[in-house]
Amino acid sequence: MKKYLVIGNPIEHSLSPKIHNHWMKKFNLNDSIYEKKKVEVKNLKQIVEEIRNDKIAGVNVTVPFKKLIIPYLDELHEAARDTQSVNTLRKVGNKIIGYNTDSLGFLRTVTDYCGFTVPEINVDLPRRDFFILGAGGVTSSIIAPLQFLVGRSPGVVWVSNRTKKNAEQLKKLFPKIEILEWGEKPPIFCHMVINTTSVGLKKDDNLNIDLKTDKRTLFYDLIYNPKETNFLKEARLRGNKTMNGQMMFLHQAKEAFKIWTDITPEIDDEVIKILEND
Ligand code: ATR
Repeated sequence: MKKYLVIGNPIEHSLSPKIHNHWMKKFNLNDSIYEKKKVEVKNLKQIVEEIRNDKIAGVNVTVPFKKLIIPYLDELHEAARDTQSVNTLRKVGNKIIGYNTDSLGFLRTVTDYCGFTVPEINVDLPRRDFFILGAGGVTSSIIAPLQFLVGRSPGVVWVSNRTKKNAEQLKKLFPKIEILEWGEKPPIFCHMVINTTSVGLKKDDNLNIDLKTDKRTLFYDLIYNPKETNFLKEARLRGNKTMNGQMMFLHQAKEAFKIWTDITPEIDDEVIKILEND
């Protein structure tokens, strides 16, 4: 039996097992199973050793371990190195490699939305500017692909976080970002405002800052459960377009599945329905 895991704390709400088990069944990987496991920091080393000893075939890592897992790994793949955040593990030879598929998941979502295809982003792009709220564990996975996009256009990535020093830490990794005070708005039109904070996970959560802006701005929330946070609801009521983190979640899962199995699953209605029915 090939066992795959998603590890985190808390982990009850993770929908990764549903998605991956669906694909495993669909592609007749009858010897594979994907489960969730709540772990503590002290278990991380053991998990990595179990991959090395072939007791576990692959692992997804979620909050709060995406950074904490790094010291136990042998190598980081590109996006994991750029973001210093890991969400997927597998063994290559005798080495345990850490990957970041959140980053590619977000890049695919944004390029779909902006109407670029990934091959096209090797050429110059029209200007795109982005405003990011938050500087937590997942934020670097959003900034990295945006820097990649704006690196090909004259755009700017603005970051604002309640605790400014956490945003300043991100500037060490991404020197080109511009930091704003919490509650301050970028002085220019931004194509997207992106919530990467944990505010919204509880239905009543509210950021309590003024985000009123041009109607053409897309409001994007990484949270997909609940489906519509107050951040998205208020933007919708102001007349802006909104999008939740569902597609990014599915894209990161697809990229992880590809890393483990070499099979590229489709993000089709069937798999979207699995999330919507939950
Ligand atoms: P991590 O993702 O690193 O585990 P987290 O505690 O879940 O961290 O917080 C993620 C992000 O949500 C951070 O940017 C955090 O802001 P701080 O750096 O100021 O802690 C942000 N966040 C959490 N609660 C918030 C709130 N009530 N208002 C504004 N931002 C908040």
